[in-house]
Amino acid sequence: MKKINSFEEYQSEYKKSIDDPKKFWGEKAESFVWRKKWSCVLNWDMEEKTSEWYAGGKLNITENCLDRHLNSIADKTAILWEPNHPKEKSRHISYKELHAKVCEFSNALLSLGIKKGDRICIYMPMVPELTIAVLACARIGAIHSVVFAGFSAKSLIGRINDAQCNLIITADGSFRAEKVIDLKSIVDNALEECPSIDHAIVLKRTDTKCEMKANRDVWWHDLTPKFSKNIAKEMDSEDPLFILYTSGSTGKPKGVVHSSGGYMVYAEYSFRNVFQYTPNDIFWCTADVGWITGHSYVIYGPLLAGATTLMFEGIPTFPSPGRFWEIVDKFQVNIFYTAPTAIRALEAKGLEYVKPYKLDSLKVIGTVGEPINEEAWNWYHKNIGKERCPIVDTWWQTETGGIMIAPLAGITKLKPTYATLPLPGVQPCLVDSKGKELEGNNVQGNLCIKFPWPSMIRTTYGDHKRYKEVYFDPYPGKYFTGDGCKRDKDGFYRITGRVDDVINVSGHRIGTAEVEDAINCHANVIESAVVGVNHSIKGQGVCAFVIIGNTETLADILKKEIEAQVCDHIGAIARPECIYLVSGLPKTRSGKIMRRILRKIAEGEKSNFGDTSTLIDASVIDNILLVLN
Ligand code: WT7
Repeated sequence: MKKINSFEEYQSEYKKSIDDPKKFWGEKAESFVWRKKWSCVLNWDMEEKTSEWYAGGKLNITENCLDRHLNSIADKTAILWEPNHPKEKSRHISYKELHAKVCEFSNALLSLGIKKGDRICIYMPMVPELTIAVLACARIGAIHSVVFAGFSAKSLIGRINDAQCNLIITADGSFRAEKVIDLKSIVDNALEECPSIDHAIVLKRTDTKCEMKANRDVWWHDLTPKFSKNIAKEMDSEDPLFILYTSGSTGKPKGVVHSSGGYMVYAEYSFRNVFQYTPNDIFWCTADVGWITGHSYVIYGPLLAGATTLMFEGIPTFPSPGRFWEIVDKFQVNIFYTAPTAIRALEAKGLEYVKPYKLDSLKVIGTVGEPINEEAWNWYHKNIGKERCPIVDTWWQTETGGIMIAPLAGITKLKPTYATLPLPGVQPCLVDSKGKELEGNNVQGNLCIKFPWPSMIRTTYGDHKRYKEVYFDPYPGKYFTGDGCKRDKDGFYRITGRVDDVINVSGHRIGTAEVEDAINCHANVIESAVVGVNHSIKGQGVCAFVIIGNTETLADILKKEIEAQVCDHIGAIARPECIYLVSGLPKTRSGKIMRRILRKIAEGEKSNFGDTSTLIDASVIDNILLVLN
């Protein structure tokens, strides 16, 4: 399919997409394989806030990722896989091989009784079988719910039970730098409390000894070789494709539901245009498939476009902080997409880890997940992009399914720290605290989207009321993103960060309420409040203020126990940077904690706390300051 080639073309496409969205998105969907064409491009139910895209259309997304490429690029590498350890061999899997493996595993799923609409939890390391598992679910219409393999057993339990999954696909273990993580034993612990699960399929990856429970657990390699039949279930355009959990303002993560047809069209459209993908480009998105970035730009976007997608099992600093750049040179990567936190971490290690590499295959480099600071942007531009590669700073969310605001590489003028302009079909707007839309340029407010787009969230799993409340109640008639944003004199957008109770740690969303719930489970904790603080590498870190009851336990031991509690409940990504044991928290008369004050205290502010007249007892501030100093 054609891509946008100039800024003038972007402007005319944008205009068309606003003037007649249905015509615009109808045309964009033509190039895909539909078993039956849609009868209506968009139905938007203003009451229920549900959008139906390509209503009446029938398709299977994996036929678009795989089968339709077999006539033209069957032998092209679909997945290029680089293992954790550079001594282990990389793998090249062609479109033809991937198709065969997906069919094989789809049959394996059917043999275990999996049906269309069943929910399947996937908790795996970054190996090609993870992609195979995802696509095999999609092929038979089972809804995949990938859980990042860094989450704890308790997080896994919450997600499995919320979606009532009946199967989990996992591995014996996963490699992380020098360590082996016992994935299967985490799963075994979790499954004690997951009655809906009938089976676990276990991939052998690390040769870690693990217990296989009779009648429940089966090895991947025992299950697959028997099958080869080519099956693909016909899906309705609006049938759910996957659930992906993400943090919100309450303690319970939301199951963001995406559907098939609209997600497919938008994932491919955004991939091709933002990165300006050309056939034969090697594309590398460093995200884990456990996050939306991995769904849309490790798996679906690139495969829909017939690209070669690189999948990396390891971490950026093993065996040395030059690993990313070594891989770029090794595979002659053309498009590289990563997170600001990784850029800052590698910048901190020094240029000696970049210098040995040519990086001359790179054409486009990108970032995602959090605001990128100017310093990191400049470092990336100079030392990785060699001032030759445009940086695409892409703003989007789990809920948006695909990139929403970003430069088109080499087409849109760049401004460091700006996500720049919306993609065609995306109608952002800024509102003030009263919900009034801020017109014109040079304004700052809360970012909303005022018209549906094909890959938008359809509901939060099992709780449509929550979906409506979270995304549509704050500003009637608009989708609210939770982000603050500025539009400058040229109409360019710059995201300033979350305005709700969500912290962005290394590009990952952590709800303050989730962390508080975890901390409050400690027997000696009376109450806690969690805020985000600036962190030079992670962007933000978790900072906890905790009130402890009477106890003989030493403060340092309590802090260690609280840390462990958080890792146990959520995972290491939520581990607090700092824990302060305090005697009181700043509360308003209505009992609300004034986090604004705690954020200031955590940032080192000593006196300037703004209006504190609504606090019941302003002296708590002085008491907290005493603890910190
Ligand atoms: C939140 C969404 C979808 C990508 C991975 C994160 C922040 C994302 C940017 C960016 C500034 C960004 C926002 C957003 N964010 N990209 N380019 N510039 N902020 O997905 O976990 O759903 O988080 O990440 O705050 O709301 P997510």
